[in-house]
Amino acid sequence: MAQLRVLPSLLLLISAAASSTSATNSEGEALHSLRTHLSDPTNVLQSWDPTLVNPCTWFHVTCNTQNRVIRLDLGSSNISGNLGPELGRLKHLMYLELYRNNFDGKIPEELGNLKNLISLDLFGNKLEGEIPKSFSKLKKLRFLRLNNNRLTGSIPRALTTLSSLRVFDVSNNDLCGTIPINGPFPNFSVQSFENNSKLNGPELQGLVPYDFGC
Ligand SMILES: *[C@@H]1O[C@H](CO)[C@@H](O)[C@H](O)[C@H]1NC(C)=O
Ligand SMILES: *[C@@H]1O[C@H](CO)[C@@H](O)[C@H](O)[C@H]1NC(C)=O
Ligand SMILES: *[C@@H]1O[C@H](CO)[C@@H](O)[C@H](O)[C@H]1NC(C)=O
Repeated sequence: MAQLRVLPSLLLLISAAASSTSATNSEGEALHSLRTHLSDPTNVLQSWDPTLVNPCTWFHVTCNTQNRVIRLDLGSSNISGNLGPELGRLKHLMYLELYRNNFDGKIPEELGNLKNLISLDLFGNKLEGEIPKSFSKLKKLRFLRLNNNRLTGSIPRALTTLSSLRVFDVSNNDLCGTIPINGPFPNFSVQSFENNSKLNGPELQGLVPYDFGC
């Protein structure tokens, strides 16, 4: 009798272990797939070995106790290339630090899937295109620094719903339109918006509440 009761719980344990392994593998696969389209002249990503069970021993990657990736720290690493949609698969990520590299191309919409993000630092790259509206899904986000890139378009009004946001910097880009006045935006200083030649001062209340072409 006792053996019969043990068996199902043992099976449960095995399947739980298997699913957690495959989940961490999928995060390793996502990171390795990202690596394949990056140029890494100073071999910062050398330890990213896809044959390992999970990416938790790789340099610049930090995991929680469940072996899920919660930090990616690649600031000032001389890396160039596109940010792929793969990053959107790191569901437990809290800190995405990719500042001061040579990343180019657009910011992937998929970063909006990283619902646990607290800090998103992409400043000091060559990123172009618009700030994804999908960032409005990042309800835990406290730090969003996109300054010193080549971003265009307007500041998505949906970002005014980010009530956790404490630091926002889009200075030194090529943004247009007006600065939002709702949500956390009154808290941000003018320095956060400077050197965007087509970005005008705070919008007049009630006049241009939505995104508009500019
Ligand atoms: C980046 O490149 C510069 C110049 O080649 C070098 O001095 C620096 O150490 C590199 N940084 C890293 C993190 O490898
Ligand atoms: C303004 O921003 C652009 C784009 O990032 C940059 O190239 C330029 O050096 C900045 N100008 C100043 C005065 O900081
Ligand atoms: C503005 O900042 C203060 C202090 O950090 C914070 O308590 C407040 O909630 C912020 N306001 C908004 C609208 O985010």
